[in-house]
Amino acid sequence: MGEDPKASALHDFLRAEMAADREGVLARLSFLRSVFRDVALHGDLIFADPEAFMIQSETFSLFNYALAGDLSEAAIGATRPWVAYVSNLTRTETPFLLPLISIPDRALVLEPGGNSGVFARALIAERHPAQHVVMDLPAVCELGRRRGSAPGLSFLAKDMRRGGWRDAAGFAPDVILFKSVLHDWPEAEAEHILSQAIQALAPGGQIVIAERSAFRGMIGGTAMDYANMVFAAFFRDPQVYETLLKRLCSDLNMTVSYTVIDTEWYVLTARMAA
Ligand SMILES: C[S@@+](CC[C@H](N)C(=O)[O-])C[C@H]1O[C@@H](n2cnc3c(N)ncnc32)[C@H](O)[C@@H]1O
Repeated sequence: MGEDPKASALHDFLRAEMAADREGVLARLSFLRSVFRDVALHGDLIFADPEAFMIQSETFSLFNYALAGDLSEAAIGATRPWVAYVSNLTRTETPFLLPLISIPDRALVLEPGGNSGVFARALIAERHPAQHVVMDLPAVCELGRRRGSAPGLSFLAKDMRRGGWRDAAGFAPDVILFKSVLHDWPEAEAEHILSQAIQALAPGGQIVIAERSAFRGMIGGTAMDYANMVFAAFFRDPQVYETLLKRLCSDLNMTVSYTVIDTEWYVLTARMAA
């Protein structure tokens, strides 16, 4: 009996994925198991009482940023699974998002919350910025460094809520990139982080925000629908960030482009006058 062509394509796909990012694929499967568990056991709380859902869920306990604050083996060990997970997601998302981002030649790029540098490495390979600094928590930066070097790539362990981004990066950034970062923060803190970005930005520079749009149902048709439902309360439409940015700086020219990955995403680019 010959092999079913669909099964054979699936095996080829899985073999290629495992060869490219075994740790990430396993982390994604493990994460999705937690998501399915949380939806099955506590799904009715997701919209009724998001706080209670977070407390009872396994999913949120994985993302414990407080455990990424130093370079001990315990910190690295606690950080590794969720870094592997978001790095694997970013590998999927990058080919959709990168074409929506345009940066000047030899740009100086700062990426708060840039994690292990998956997006940075893809941007470096295609756009050759002069420098790309990933600013993240200490254990996350260490895991990023362990993934190897790329031209112009460096990791800066720094709490993005604190000021002094220019001094810490060593340059006034032409581009400040937030990919899947701002939804982590309540609006007031997201505004505070954006104010740090505006203070740091070089004249004529741009802030780029890539995020999932606000949750509008399980429209993707993949297992990621469940993960997105678990985070549903956090995703915001671009108008929310446009309003925050307008409040912080009247001199920004903003554009928004959309794409569909696991659900609808957008890239909001806010350019400052030169
Ligand atoms: C939701 S993850 C997104 C990661 C990555 N940009 C992506 O798209 O997969 C948020 C990132 O922000 C980082 N982060 C959280 N709190 C931070 C802080 N106070 N200062 C700097 N980075 C922080 C996390 O370590 C993580 O890498």
